[in-house]
Amino acid sequence: MSRLRRVLIVLGSLVVVLALVVGGLFWWLWSGARVSTVGDEAFDHQLAVPPLAASHLDRDGTRVFDLKMQAGETEFVQGRRTATWGFNGSYLGPTLRAERGEKVRVRVHNTLDQASTVHWHGMHLPAKMDGGPHQMVAPGATWAPQWTIDQPAATLWYHPHPHGETEDHVQRGLAGLFLLDDAVSGRLPLPKRYGVDDLPLIVQDVRFDGAGFDHGHKMLQNVGFLGDRTMVNGTLSPYRVVSDEAVRLRLLNASTARTYDFGFSDDRAFALVGTDGGLLERPVSLKRVQLSPGERAEVVVRMRPGERTVLRSFAQDNYDDSFQQRFNGGDDSFDVLQLRAADTLRPSPELPAHLARLEVPDGKDAVRGRFFELKKSGINGRKMAMDRIDETVTRGTTEIWTIRNTNGMPHNFHVHDVQFRVLEVNGHAPPPQLRGPKDTVFVPNGTTMKFALRFDGPADPDTPYMYHCHLLYHEDEGMMGQFVVVDKGQKAGRPSAGAGEHHHH
Ligand code: C2O
Ligand code: CU
Ligand code: CU
Repeated sequence: MSRLRRVLIVLGSLVVVLALVVGGLFWWLWSGARVSTVGDEAFDHQLAVPPLAASHLDRDGTRVFDLKMQAGETEFVQGRRTATWGFNGSYLGPTLRAERGEKVRVRVHNTLDQASTVHWHGMHLPAKMDGGPHQMVAPGATWAPQWTIDQPAATLWYHPHPHGETEDHVQRGLAGLFLLDDAVSGRLPLPKRYGVDDLPLIVQDVRFDGAGFDHGHKMLQNVGFLGDRTMVNGTLSPYRVVSDEAVRLRLLNASTARTYDFGFSDDRAFALVGTDGGLLERPVSLKRVQLSPGERAEVVVRMRPGERTVLRSFAQDNYDDSFQQRFNGGDDSFDVLQLRAADTLRPSPELPAHLARLEVPDGKDAVRGRFFELKKSGINGRKMAMDRIDETVTRGTTEIWTIRNTNGMPHNFHVHDVQFRVLEVNGHAPPPQLRGPKDTVFVPNGTTMKFALRFDGPADPDTPYMYHCHLLYHEDEGMMGQFVVVDKGQKAGRPSAGAGEHHHH
C-alpha cells in the first residue's frame, strides 16, 4: 500500500513538473514570438532609391536592358559586410521602365554559381518569356526574352523563380521593380518624378545573425521565414526627406512570407491610387492597406511643412486563431520608414477625381469556372509537378476562378500573365483595395474569393504559366500549379520535367 502510494506520488510529481516545463516552454515561445520595432527605430539611414536601369534602342526600336545576376557583399550596417546577391549590384536591382506599346528585351546574364530564373511578376507576355521555372538560366548563360508591353501603367516587379529555391534566391537579394507608363498615367496630375515625389518602396523583413543573414524558420512558423526587422530598398532604419506637398509611394511587399498592414503612425489618411496591375478608377481615402507577399499598392500621402510621420505596419487580426496570429506574424508591427517634410514644400495639385478606366474583365462573358482549394500540401490536393499541366484555358476567353482557403493558416494566390478583377470575397463585394487590377491577393483562412480573368495572350500548348501561393516557402514546397493557354480546340502539350531548355551561351 505505502509502496504504491510512493510510486503514485513520484508519478504525480513527475506529471506536475512535466506540465510546468511544457507550459513554461509554451509561455516562453508565446511571449517571445511577437515582434515589434515600433518606437525602436533610430531612422538614421537615408533611404536608398534603386537607380533607373540604363537602356538603349536597337535598330528595330526595341528597348534593350541588361541585367546581371551577381554575388557580392552589402554593408547594411556600416563596417559589417553581409554576403548578398543582386542585379547589376550587390543587393536588389535597378528599376526597369517602359511605355505601353514599346518592344522590350532584357538580356539576363547569370554570373552566379547556381542556375536561376528571372520572372516578370504582373507582366502580360508570352509564356516562353515569363521567366518561370521552365526558363532556367544556367551559370554563365544569358537569356534574352522579348515582348511588347501591352497593358496599362503599373508597378510591376521581377524576381527569380527556380522551382524549390525561390525563397532562397529572393532572400539573398534578387528583386527589382519594373514600372510601366502609358498615355493616361502621363497626363494625370499625379506625383511622377522618380526618386523625388514618386518613391519606390521595396519592403522586406530580415533577421541578422552577426553580419550575416539568418534565414532559418522558427519553431511553430508554418508560413515560412519571418524576420524581426524591416528594410526598405535595402536600407535599414530608413528616413526620407520630402520636399513636395504630395508624395506617391509605390509599395511592394517583396518579403517572402510576411504580410503587412500599412498606415501611418499618426493615423493620417492617404489616397490609394493603384493596385498590382495599375491605377484605380478613382482615388480612395484609406488609413490602412494590407499587402501580402508580391502585392503592390500606389498611395499618395500629403505632408505639411516641417512635420514627420512614420510609415508603419500594424498588427492584423485576420490570420485565423490566436495561435496563427502570434506565431505567424499577425500580431507583429514595424516602423518601416520615417518621412521628414522639409520646412518649405513645393505645392502639389489636388488628386484628380477620376484616374483610369479599368481593363480587367467583369466576368459577364465568362465561359467557364474553375475551383482552387489552397492547402500547404498542394493546390486541389496536388503538389506542383514540372511535367504536369493542371489547367488548360482557351485563348480569348474569360473565366471565373474560385479560390478557397480553409487550411488554418494564411495563404495568398498569384496568377501569371494576367491582371484579374476580384468579384467577391466571402460572398460580398470586395473592399476598395481589391477593386483595381490584381495579380496577387491575400487569402486568409476561412476565405472564399471569386475572380474574373481573361486570357488574351498567344497560345502555347507546351509552355505553362504558373499560379501559386506567393508565400515563397509554400510555393517551394509545391503549392503551385501550371496552366497553358491554347487556341480553341487545341490540346495541352507536355512540358519537360527538367529545368532549362533555354540555356544560351
Ligand atoms: Cu512573383 Cu510566380 O511569382
Ligand atoms: Cu508572377
Ligand atoms: Cu501559402
